[in-house]
Amino acid sequence: APIEKGNYRHYMQKEIFEQPVVVADTLQSYIRPFEGEVALPDIDFDLSKVDRLTIVACGTSFYAGLVAKYWIEQFARVPVDIDVASEFRYRDPILEPGGLALFVSQSGETADTLAALRHAREQGQRIAVVVNVPTSSMAREADLVLPTHAGPEVGVASTKAFTCQLAVLAALAANLASERGEFGRDEERDIVAHLQEAPAALNAALGHDDEIAAMAHLIAPARDVLYLGRGPYFPMALEGALKLKEISYIHAEGYAAGEMKHGPIALIDDNVPVIVLAPSGPLFEKTVSNMQEVRARGGKIVLISDAKGIAEAGEGCMATIEMPEVHPLIAPIVYAAPVQLLAYHVAVLKGTDVDQPRNLAKSVTVE
Ligand code: G6P
Repeated sequence: APIEKGNYRHYMQKEIFEQPVVVADTLQSYIRPFEGEVALPDIDFDLSKVDRLTIVACGTSFYAGLVAKYWIEQFARVPVDIDVASEFRYRDPILEPGGLALFVSQSGETADTLAALRHAREQGQRIAVVVNVPTSSMAREADLVLPTHAGPEVGVASTKAFTCQLAVLAALAANLASERGEFGRDEERDIVAHLQEAPAALNAALGHDDEIAAMAHLIAPARDVLYLGRGPYFPMALEGALKLKEISYIHAEGYAAGEMKHGPIALIDDNVPVIVLAPSGPLFEKTVSNMQEVRARGGKIVLISDAKGIAEAGEGCMATIEMPEVHPLIAPIVYAAPVQLLAYHVAVLKGTDVDQPRNLAKSVTVE
């Protein structure tokens, strides 16, 4: 049966609002709340012995992989290499025999990612995949399948598949951290509790829909929009910019907040909205000082942060969006919601074809 839009105007909107449920469904197969454990499907090799991980993907799935690099390195202390699939094969990457390569894909059919998977296999790598389609080519060719349970995604711009990928990758990072002794028993138990908070936190983030719809009027007239973040919020900034350009056709760039002074700051004037993703925490002050550099040049800031961050740095911003305060392993999942909603509402204002943006395809099966 065809998937219905129900009360929603677009599939993308419906899929954005499905996230608390599908992220919960996805997490359910990776956590054992009673035991306080993060569990992965059975495999015939010892994941904890892997001393280097290669992640490969395209588009939004690549940004999920980039967030995972921060998590896996920070929490599990495993070095991670990451590439977009269309670059991976052709640079003849150095892959140690017995290494693990991880491919992230909603469809499991993206031609570049599938070719990269086969290349890694030929180079003696073990293959793990995070996929949303269990019958896909990538799922069939993998040694370890880590499914997302996002359900069919119709909107060309990926939303719920992305947050489900992040949920799986957070579970993977936590599992590796536990297996490698970086997390003790109490920490693992604690992380399971935090992972369980993700759906409710996402729900709270989605509660800002009306506010973000009103804010979209401030963004829609812009020619360029800049997204800034540090740490895992750098890839989240890249994803925010990708969502906006995909469906609203406004030029948008995601940048590491600290790198802005090496170029994009030249673009800033009072016509350029700058979206800053910055929860309070160790990177906050540095990001705020980058934000002040924007403000000093007339840039109009939208600050996405928690109550503490907004109290500290919200003054003088064009707008703020308050996110719940959650564990760093969960927060990027939550911060996905406001950037998706902002892109969605701007696109609606511009009257574009939100679910079928021009020149884009849901699944790209050509290299
Ligand atoms: C296309 C889609 C994107 C998606 C990318 C990777 O460009 O429009 O939404 O992120 O392919 O797709 P995959 O199925 O491999 O995640």
